[in-house]
Amino acid sequence: MNYQTLYEQMGGAETVRRLVEAFYPRVQADPEIGPLFPPDITPVMEKQYLFLTQFFGGPALYNEQHGHPMLRMRHMPFPIDARRAAAWLRCMNAALDEAGLTGTVRDEVYQRLAFTAGHMINTDENRQP
Ligand code: HEM
Repeated sequence: MNYQTLYEQMGGAETVRRLVEAFYPRVQADPEIGPLFPPDITPVMEKQYLFLTQFFGGPALYNEQHGHPMLRMRHMPFPIDARRAAAWLRCMNAALDEAGLTGTVRDEVYQRLAFTAGHMINTDENRQP
């Protein structure tokens, strides 16, 4: 049996930091989602670090500093369709490799993120302009 949180199994703070640092350069370079983000990505990286820490079962850093994430609501200003969710996940998939995650821990991390990315979709891909 393994009673560690996913956060601990991943390697804790160091791994979450590496993951965020591997992820955002890819996001910024991505033609589908890069333009949605501000040029100064540092504050976004910091919030994502805080969020992912608690998302994977570590300390509730995001809640302590920013209150309840209300993630779907915070994404409403940005039209996110299935293509953009897929682009986000492609960036994340590559970042997981760069951060050195492997095996079942990697699979579990990816699944949780994929589920949440699907939940962020707020716009029909085939909408009329
Ligand atoms: C599905 C595709 C997604 C897109 C296109 C997307 C895009 C964005 C954008 C444009 C921002 C705002 C950046 C800013 O101006 O501050 C943002 C913020 C954020 N996103 Fe996403 N996102 C996606 C999925 C996710 C997922 C799956 C998670 C978590 C697992 C997530 C976590 C966050 C967090 C924590 C913030 C910062 C919220 C805050 O302002 O406190 N996003 N995202």
